[in-house]
Amino acid sequence: MPEYLPTAPYRGTRDFLPPEMSVRTQVFGHLYEVLERFGYLRYDGPVLESAEIYERKSGEEIVDQQLYTLTDRGGRRLALRPEMTPSVARMIAGNAGKLQFPVRWYSHPNCHRYERPQRGRVREHWQINADIFGSESANCEIEMFELIHELLHALGATEDMFLVRANDRNLLASAITDLAGVPAELLNPVFSLVDRWEKYDRDTLAAQAEEIGLSDKQFDKLGDVLGAGTALLDELPAAVKEASNLVRVLSSEASGLVRFDPMIVRGLAYYTSTVFEVFDISPDNNRALFGGGRYADLAGMFTSQQITGIGFGMGDVTLMDFLDTHGLTPNPRSEADVMVIPVGDELHAAARQVASGLRRAGLRTATPLEPRKLGKELARADKAGAKAVVIVGREDWDSGLVTVRSLSTREQRQVPVDETPATVAAFLES
Ligand code: HAM
Repeated sequence: MPEYLPTAPYRGTRDFLPPEMSVRTQVFGHLYEVLERFGYLRYDGPVLESAEIYERKSGEEIVDQQLYTLTDRGGRRLALRPEMTPSVARMIAGNAGKLQFPVRWYSHPNCHRYERPQRGRVREHWQINADIFGSESANCEIEMFELIHELLHALGATEDMFLVRANDRNLLASAITDLAGVPAELLNPVFSLVDRWEKYDRDTLAAQAEEIGLSDKQFDKLGDVLGAGTALLDELPAAVKEASNLVRVLSSEASGLVRFDPMIVRGLAYYTSTVFEVFDISPDNNRALFGGGRYADLAGMFTSQQITGIGFGMGDVTLMDFLDTHGLTPNPRSEADVMVIPVGDELHAAARQVASGLRRAGLRTATPLEPRKLGKELARADKAGAKAVVIVGREDWDSGLVTVRSLSTREQRQVPVDETPATVAAFLES
């Protein structure tokens, strides 16, 4: 017995067969439309990047545990991109002289992370990225929140299905040091602890806090700070609040787009102020869908010019789970809406001629490739999801006619060949 190789894709990656690809194309098509309507321009870049661009800024979790790295034949250390933000910062820095800031860009890259596959987590995912570069204005934050709402609305989601939770790392830092009394040098490990806060029970968190070096009192106060919600804002120093774009958003007419939540911090190391995460509200899928934030100096890896960025990454896996949970997943498209079936292989050329007329009229049309009996071909057309068939029979054809049949209503009509597109279109609409 020959030993066959597995047909399953590599662990944590997915094949997209036509039905899944069709759903994916429809969903992301809606998202591209919204982004284009907001004035975002699409870019792309290589899957392989220098490993260094992640090692400098992305933080331990990605770099130590999740980065796929390799060394090329020239001895260069490379990585499969785990995210797009360092790449886009590189492109912006490299082309800053030619760009008219602020710029709005979007992309839809595949990203690779070596993770233990589980619900919502895989090793290759696709991520819509939308970012603004070169503006410090709070209008960027507002636009990001507005865009998130519009993107989800375009997929059929309503306001009761999701929640945007946002924080500012500077507000959190002030709360941790000024209110919880934690020394500033412990901020980074405490941020990581906050990022895990909703994933673990209190005892586990207390043990982790002790490991970091927090006293029981500091840990308890940290818990108070994180649970305080909007009330926390009243306790923070005025100067910290005045510097915060998020506070500006919260006191603007756009405040309803977002909820302030001290618990949001996000895992990536490069965020410098605003951070946000979108949650599915459904109890069946109560989890983070996607997130982002502002990064003041990621471009600083590549240039002395300071170029601030703000944006988010929206992953396809968590998004599809969200759509499934809320019954919003579109149906896959059929192969074709119309099948033109010759009765006998000698009429195949005639069928192709009819089909090309239908395609010119914009109708999705196919012809059978193999000679088969009419009954079999009708059953195949039905199963493939066609809504109408055009039957090309000898006698009809010799008199310049074809038979158009609706597969849903079974209505049938004999029409002159040049009236086929109009008749089929009418059948498809009914
Ligand atoms: P992130 O939170 O690491 O942020 O990823 C963003 C989103 O990508 C996640 O919320 C999730 O939807 C999806 N995602 C990430 N890892 C996986 C995985 N292993 N499997 C499935 N989906 C995943 C970033 O990547 C930032 N670069 C986003 C950003 C853009 N910030 C500013 N601009």
